[in-house]
Amino acid sequence: MQLTAYVNGNMLPLQDACIHIEDRGFQFADGVYEVIACINGTFLDLDMHLQRLRYSCEAIAIDLPCPLHEMAARIEAIYHANPFEDAMIYVQITRGRAARAHLPNTMPTPSLIMTVRELPAPSCETLTQGASAITLDDIRWKRCDIKSIALLASVMGRQEARRRQADETIWLDEQGHMLEGCSTNVLAVIDGSLVTHPLDHQVLGGITRRLALQLARQHGIRVVERPWHLHEAGLQECMLSSTTQGIVPVCYIDGQAIGGGTPGKLTLQLRDWLLQHFDELRQEKTHHA
Ligand code: PDD
Repeated sequence: MQLTAYVNGNMLPLQDACIHIEDRGFQFADGVYEVIACINGTFLDLDMHLQRLRYSCEAIAIDLPCPLHEMAARIEAIYHANPFEDAMIYVQITRGRAARAHLPNTMPTPSLIMTVRELPAPSCETLTQGASAITLDDIRWKRCDIKSIALLASVMGRQEARRRQADETIWLDEQGHMLEGCSTNVLAVIDGSLVTHPLDHQVLGGITRRLALQLARQHGIRVVERPWHLHEAGLQECMLSSTTQGIVPVCYIDGQAIGGGTPGKLTLQLRDWLLQHFDELRQEKTHHA
């Protein structure tokens, strides 16, 4: 499929899509983004992604390029120009183009860029054998609640994970608590409860994380949002959550097996509930169509 990108109001072949070198996204990483999944033509939790996009824009004082309902229409349009059965849509908003100065003389018009790629399903191996992770001290900034396009630390984290033949790096705070991965939230099952770091400046308010907690509560599982350690007594399971992968078990961290080194029962159950929830969204859409 010839890929089409959206750049500031224009749809054009991906290979011709450019942004000016003085765009502040390029010069300062002065921008925010979202990654939205679309399965069989149904966007998953588009509203929540749009609300988070607004939150990120407001946090760094960038005006949304258009109202959210129009943003939704543009996202649908770029998807229809790249109609993969399962797709991920990257939406990036930067402060726009201006002569390079930390504070631009005049406020530029924000840039809006969108690209679409096929959404790869997690491999069978990841689901049956689990992913592996390493832990590193968090070297990121102190506003991880903003979905900033400044992802250098995440790139470095992934490089180190790959060097050590692992799939993900989990960032640790100064007390060694498990925060989140480079592009995932991290959850654990401890003494039967689903535990994850509370929402603060050190973690992104993941949409999949929120769904996982909601689904667990609906099924009578105790949910505890608190700082947690990898070496806590009672740690049974560990999992990663993200838009692009859903819920994925983690069976080895820093070379040590979690829960005997096989995917946890509750993790797989949560993954099933999540997939069921997405099926329901698809059915609702077909029903309303
Ligand atoms: N990443 N934490 C970080 C640092 C992330 O970048 C992401 C998402 C998440 C999970 O959030 P959600 O469930 O809303 O996708 C947590 C996207 C997928 C990415 O950058 O590709």
